Amino acid sequence: MIKGIIFDLDGVLVSTDELHYQAWKRLADELGITAFNREDNKRQRGVSRMASLEVVLEKSDKKYTDEEKVELADRKNGYYVELLQNMDDSAVLKDVKPTLKALKEKGLLLAVGSASKNAPAILEKTGLLPLLDKVSCGLDTTKSKPDPEVFLVAAKKLNLDPSECIVVEDSQAGIDAAKAGGMKSLSVGPFYDSMGADYSAPLLCDEKDWDKIVS
Ligand code: BG6
Ligand code: MG
Repeated sequence: MIKGIIFDLDGVLVSTDELHYQAWKRLADELGITAFNREDNKRQRGVSRMASLEVVLEKSDKKYTDEEKVELADRKNGYYVELLQNMDDSAVLKDVKPTLKALKEKGLLLAVGSASKNAPAILEKTGLLPLLDKVSCGLDTTKSKPDPEVFLVAAKKLNLDPSECIVVEDSQAGIDAAKAGGMKSLSVGPFYDSMGADYSAPLLCDEKDWDKIVS
């Protein structure tokens, strides 16, 4: 029986996925990697900052040292944090707050399982934090999705077995991580119907059949 729901953050609860793309695009343009595009960005969804950087650098002829890579990732994060400055609850995706409240009223435990080290700040700015029981994010983990670490940490924080949790994700890496962690999955977002999840819906609030999912 499902007792807990673990939500990815970027692209599931908030629309920050577009801001990540803009920040990476700015860095790529500065490096002369003009071929970096939205198709590449699809593979950045869900994965860590350093793994996302590798996707950008795939299209560069230049080889960067580890030290340079850290500087590039920091620079991108600076651009991303700049874009987050004016963020408020308008960044929360459609009907997410009422959906979280309704799930809470059903007695379910709710957590975030996000690769982002900016997750706590985003949850604070958007007013989502009080609606969640626990947060597991890039600050709690060392391995990037599709490794299940971030979801296993979330399940542990909720005091639940992985088999009692369902993960909600917009990325292939996240759906694969849920499976690797022994959890059920619901895919949402622009690619919702092509990720091989147990359930799928364009938006979180479009999934009306929560009773069936959590039974
Ligand atoms: C994920 C995003 O949620 O967080 C990725 O989907 C991003 O695109 C990752 O790379 C890490 O985010 P941050 O905020 O720690 O750079
Ligand atoms: Mg995501």
